[in-house]
Amino acid sequence: MTERRDLRQGAWRKLDRLATETPAATLRDLFDRDPERGPRYSFDLKPLRVDLSRHPLDEGAWETLLELGEACDLAGAASRMAAGEVINVTEGRPALHSALRYPPCAAGAGVAEAVGQATAQLCDLADRMRGGRWVGTTGQVITDLVNIGIGGSDLGPRLVVNALSTPPEQRVRVHFVANIDGMAMADTLASLNPATTAFCITSKSFGTRETLTNATTARSWLKQALATEALEAHLIAVSANVQRAAEFGVQPDNVLPMWDWVGGRYSLWSAVGLPIAVALGSDGFRALLDGAALLDEHFFETPLEHNLPMRLALAGVWQRQVGGATGYAVVPYANRLGLLPDWLQQLDMESNGKRVDIGGSALNRNSGALCWGGVGTDGQHAYFQWLHQGTSPTPVEFIGVKAPGHGYHDHHQQLLANLLGQATALAFGRSAEETRDELLHSGKSPEEADRLAPHMTFPGNRASTIIMLDELSPAALGALLALYEHRVYAQSVLWNNNAFDQWGVELGKTLALNVESQLAGEAAEHPAPGLDHWLAWLRS
Ligand code: F6P
Repeated sequence: MTERRDLRQGAWRKLDRLATETPAATLRDLFDRDPERGPRYSFDLKPLRVDLSRHPLDEGAWETLLELGEACDLAGAASRMAAGEVINVTEGRPALHSALRYPPCAAGAGVAEAVGQATAQLCDLADRMRGGRWVGTTGQVITDLVNIGIGGSDLGPRLVVNALSTPPEQRVRVHFVANIDGMAMADTLASLNPATTAFCITSKSFGTRETLTNATTARSWLKQALATEALEAHLIAVSANVQRAAEFGVQPDNVLPMWDWVGGRYSLWSAVGLPIAVALGSDGFRALLDGAALLDEHFFETPLEHNLPMRLALAGVWQRQVGGATGYAVVPYANRLGLLPDWLQQLDMESNGKRVDIGGSALNRNSGALCWGGVGTDGQHAYFQWLHQGTSPTPVEFIGVKAPGHGYHDHHQQLLANLLGQATALAFGRSAEETRDELLHSGKSPEEADRLAPHMTFPGNRASTIIMLDELSPAALGALLALYEHRVYAQSVLWNNNAFDQWGVELGKTLALNVESQLAGEAAEHPAPGLDHWLAWLRS
């Protein structure tokens, strides 16, 4: 234990020394010195290709990072996860999302039977619904499924459904309601027929306020419109708390299981993925699992040096620790991956947005970074200005898809050209001299060129990663999401924080309950300082 701590501290110190004592190589230098740098730092793990060459890290820097990975025992941490050890120490649980898709992990952790049954149950339900064999209380076939859930019970399925299936292609239309804002529910219900609509109430705890409020509204809507209490066919639940779901009125047969050992934000592979299976069919859902399993096998079995999630984790740690980045932007050049940044934001920031280490001591280094982003090319006309010329250099993750998936070849060429063009501009920029020359060349006077050049210069040397998918298929998307999951865990190991709890979301929720009682005029504790005037204003 002490030996490991010493190793870890020694490796971090070495990284700090490298950062302060060695002048950092620029991307221009690195590519000049090694024209093969692109392929050398690109990794093929079909259906993904990941290019890490645009991180300003020379061989020495990579070596030091790999030493840090060794010292922090990334390989051991991966094995402990795979074996089902209690790595979520504050909640006393393993983190076994890989068991949902990678059979050796399920077998090793002793959960293969439970996982097999649950996957079969959800696939069967989804295929029955897609096949028109799920009939509502009036005898009409269910045509619309509304998932009610929030956070991990919403973002993953919503992302995958959005990426791989759109309503006109869906045999059963799939909708999502997460927000407590009644407008989310009102807008969704407006176009639905209660006789042909089913709701899936997805909540690991079955105690999340937003989800219960939305579910109660949905149940009342059904009851009122169908004039019956017999809503069995219209209410499905996914929860680790079967009893609460049953008390709410969901028939026990229609409650699909979850388990404590799958974190909410890691749960799209469980029965939480029911909307995915309904939208894509069970074959599509299983292909998604298979894609993720490829990454599980890779993460658990591949030595550190060639281990992609570990390499990505190390590059991110460098950017945060040495490069001083407070965040990173995720930019999918794929319209259908528009929800990727939202999903990744919860995955990364709920996991690694921590201020104490695994033993409860204050971290003396930065932990997780701000994750944000949005689709390219749209972002190019908004926040890219800031990425290229702003004063807070921020790494970018470009996500692309090789095969277009549609017939508009020209659009796709332009899309991918933009991705590579932007990555090149970030990496190499355009010096003041080059800018001035270009201005002169375009006919500007020397005075005009001098005046404009500072505004039009690009500093470059801004880090980015390119991740390409062969195609936007269930397998490729499964692989991409699992790549991110394992990167997040590997980073938590490097920073030595717990990636699987989320205490930081609790306090605000509790205080909101108190405010709610106050607003309702019920006796409750005195509100916190600064709230009196708001309560008075809202009541007026
Ligand atoms: O508030 C945070 C959180 O606990 C997330 O971690 C989780 O994904 C979400 O709420 C929803 O929780 P549940 O599935 O229990 O409703």
